Amino acid sequence: MAEKYFKYVILGGGVSAGYAVREFVNQGVKPGELAIISKESVAPYERPALSKAYFFPQGPARLPGFHVCAGTGGDILLPEWYSAKGISLILSTEIVKADLASKTLTSANGDMFKYQILIIATGSTATKLTDHGVPGADAKNIFYLRDIEEAETLAKAIKAENRKVVIVGGGYIGLELSAVMKINNLDVTMVYPGPWCMPRLFTAELASFYEGYYASKGVQIIKGTAAAGFNSDTNGDVKEVKLKNERVLEADIVVVGVGGRPLTTLFKGQLEEDKGGFKTDAFFKTSVPEVYAVGDVASFPMKLYNDTRRVEHVDHAHKSAEQAVKGIFASEQGKLIDEYDYLPYFYSRAFDLSWQFYGDNVGEAVLFGDNNPASENPKFGSYWIKDGKVMGVFLENGSAAENKAIAKVARLQPAVDSLDLLATDALNFACNI
Ligand code: FDA
Ligand code: NAD
Repeated sequence: MAEKYFKYVILGGGVSAGYAVREFVNQGVKPGELAIISKESVAPYERPALSKAYFFPQGPARLPGFHVCAGTGGDILLPEWYSAKGISLILSTEIVKADLASKTLTSANGDMFKYQILIIATGSTATKLTDHGVPGADAKNIFYLRDIEEAETLAKAIKAENRKVVIVGGGYIGLELSAVMKINNLDVTMVYPGPWCMPRLFTAELASFYEGYYASKGVQIIKGTAAAGFNSDTNGDVKEVKLKNERVLEADIVVVGVGGRPLTTLFKGQLEEDKGGFKTDAFFKTSVPEVYAVGDVASFPMKLYNDTRRVEHVDHAHKSAEQAVKGIFASEQGKLIDEYDYLPYFYSRAFDLSWQFYGDNVGEAVLFGDNNPASENPKFGSYWIKDGKVMGVFLENGSAAENKAIAKVARLQPAVDSLDLLATDALNFACNI
């Protein structure tokens, strides 16, 4: 059992860990001072690739091509980069005990890691149907997608021909995975309980475009019901999905995307929590001195909306990590930095579609543009208006300049006199702000 000390430890080796390390180097961290401890076996990578290019039949994304910071056009940080900078990349190491009072982390094999400053970047885990007691949900070939090992197992499983895939869930994973499975020529059925897909962001009008488009690509969609159980063969391989509405679907492969849960259990009772994550200030300091939380596990002050939020998206993972590290170095030097002032940004890509959303989807939604899935070049979006001001903007198929314009509008929250005029003015409204 070894015991090691590092001035700075990042717990977790995902997206925010990778961007935090780059910022540590920018800030002049010295060799030997910093360690990343990750239960994954590879250096930090851009997790979004796993539900998109990782499954492309031609030229799929593979490591080292999508290590951080490929996602933002930065240098790709290879394992050699960490050793050249004197940063300890401690992989395949799961921390099973954390004691903040003695500043000690203990791994599954009993190694102990002591630190002065800890950054918690443990991210989320996929919600399992077994957690909900769904009968038969432990059958083989029922997949979840959170890390590269799971992506690789699923990529191998779809290699056999004529496979029937059922996707359970109509959120991010459901929409992105059903698209890549279809691109692989598989027979794909999506099942979700809501009246339309991605209900946490899409309005009925936005969703109707995506549902129509997916149907035109051959994805079968069953709405308003959920998986109630699974039947498997004598090998234990899944063969059928039983739905709550009594329908039974044949399946060789099931991919489940029914939401995630932030990984906070290691610190239960040791840190103040809020909205399922660790409560932080605008510099990602938690309730315990010298302990920071970033990415999916941070519940931080959202200055723009004057409330506290937890955000499970990659842009916030990058920015929160950089903010925390800048704050650590600033306080060591007795300097001040600006508070985190985050503008929510989510995006997705599937088939040849690509959307971006900025801001808050609250208030009345105003659809604009052509959202007919049969159109040759559909382009549409939605504004959300509350108290006479634009709060959020969604755009499918926007150019770089148009996406920049909608981000600006969501940040500035201009006043809107007439919702009817806004609908006709459409993207011009955003581009003229
Ligand atoms: P992240 O999950 O990246 O990293 C957590 C790390 O901590 C992992 O390495 C994990 O193994 C490690 N860890 C956890 N507990 C540990 C322990 N006890 N001991 C050691 N290590 C431990 N967002 C977006 O905006 N656009 C997109 O297109 C996508 N696409 C996407 C696809 C898929 C498949 C997923 C799963 C997620 C996305 N996301 C996304 C969400 C985005 O990837 C997510 O918000 C960030 O990865 C969060 O970064 P974190 O660093 O917080 O967690
Ligand atoms: P999600 O919350 O986006 O979607 C979950 C979906 O599952 C919802 O549509 C919900 O109605 C449905 N659902 C819930 N219970 C169900 C049940 N019993 N049967 C069928 N459907 C059910 O979560 P996700 O898609 O699993 O994504 C997991 C995490 O990965 C999230 O943090 C997400 O932000 C992240 N992610 C983000 C992106 C992106 O930003 N482009 C892409 C992939 C993953």
